[in-house]
Amino acid sequence: MRTIEELNRYCLQYGFFYPTAEIYKTAPSGFWEYGPLGTLLKQKFLQMAMKELVRKDEMILIDGSQILPRDVFLASGHLNFFTDPLCSCNNCGSIFRADKLIEEQAGIPVPERTPPQEIIRLLQNVKCPSCNGELGNLRLFNMMFKTTVGVNGDEVYLRPETAQNIYISFPRLYVYARRKLPLPVAQIGKSFRNEISPRQSLLRLREFTQLEVEVFYNPKTVNDIEKYKKVKDKRIPLYINNQRIMLSCEEAVEQGYISNWLQAYYLTLIYEFYIKLNIPPEKIRFRELSDDEKAFYARRAWDLEVEMSMGWIELVACNDRGDYDLTAHMKVSGEEMYVPDNTSRLVPHVFELSMGVDRSILSLLDLNLIKENERTVLRLHPALAPITVAVFPLIKNDMLVRMAKDIYELLRLDFDAFYDDSGSIGRRYRRQDIIGTPYCITIDFDTLKNQTVTIRDRDTMEQNRVETSQIKKYLIERLGIYQF
Ligand code: GLY
Repeated sequence: MRTIEELNRYCLQYGFFYPTAEIYKTAPSGFWEYGPLGTLLKQKFLQMAMKELVRKDEMILIDGSQILPRDVFLASGHLNFFTDPLCSCNNCGSIFRADKLIEEQAGIPVPERTPPQEIIRLLQNVKCPSCNGELGNLRLFNMMFKTTVGVNGDEVYLRPETAQNIYISFPRLYVYARRKLPLPVAQIGKSFRNEISPRQSLLRLREFTQLEVEVFYNPKTVNDIEKYKKVKDKRIPLYINNQRIMLSCEEAVEQGYISNWLQAYYLTLIYEFYIKLNIPPEKIRFRELSDDEKAFYARRAWDLEVEMSMGWIELVACNDRGDYDLTAHMKVSGEEMYVPDNTSRLVPHVFELSMGVDRSILSLLDLNLIKENERTVLRLHPALAPITVAVFPLIKNDMLVRMAKDIYELLRLDFDAFYDDSGSIGRRYRRQDIIGTPYCITIDFDTLKNQTVTIRDRDTMEQNRVETSQIKKYLIERLGIYQF
């Protein structure tokens, strides 16, 4: 089984990502830069999400500020409740995240909402990992980054979730969307959390990218929407009584594992998205969170989890937030959030899909990096591969090189293309296999005679002869609608 360290080594070696400011000893952990290949992969991932989530569901999209005033987080509850428990050693003074220490050292789970008195009691089971001293001084540490704005130093915060921009824009968005519910709004952007122990590279970052969808709905009519009921016979994987079970949405709603058709529809939408990315369905499940695991704003919550080499990892939090957020913003801002819908006036409820983009990308790298007999291949969906097509002359012959460069020029504005003429052709294929390039074009002596090239498929390693005039068409046909 691959460890996260092995995966990281591969990602560093091939330029997917690397630690921020790594040339400085003072660089804090939990910040990572995407390198050349990682950046392309992330862009393509987001474009696929634009199609398979945003456009598919006719969501509207916004792009809000990352810095927001204190009042937003006073209303949202993040100022008071977005905390992690810290403890320190009575002997050496080292500081630790109390819940993680108890989980790791004593093997006792400490869910999200465990009361502080209980954490203090559980701390008696563990000792300081640095000096074996007694631990105590429990305090709650707010995970938001605080800063100031303007000459008066007004208190502001870096948003810990993109969702809040959508809630505070609701009155405008509702009018824009012609005053209709349900209203799905998406946003892709950075969020920031001052994690106490950031680790495992892209799995727990202090600055990270979220794709969040907030669906405003009327709870009274939530089961009357035709579009949602269309998923009735679709099957989704639910984790029930420690087992992954495939249930139709109808069964899941009837048996109460899901509350309504809107939830069934959005769980299906996000499940099908990850399948489109080539994540094997058996490696995906929805796990409902218990009351003490849920975030403070959630009424009901499921995590979409994917089985990576290091175990089941949450990629998307699916939260029914009820009217918690809009009601809270209405109280603190004084802005009206009641809207008419059918015969009633209501503060809309919200169902949320909150996707960790960086961890989704890490899962794609982990699940697609395959060691075969003689080669290592990154079997990404062709449309996600950072480099779509590589162009090689068979050998370094002047005429072949010139022809290969002409073909590279022909392709490079429309596709992420790469030209390479160094080393043997076999080695050049292997270099592209390991970074996931789905198509390699080779120019050989037949090309000079009859204007054809070979196009090698990464997965089958088969080569097709294609006329040079047909190369673009060949690639477009294989990338399908995903031609970026
Ligand atoms: N919006 C939910 C989260 O960021 O956890």
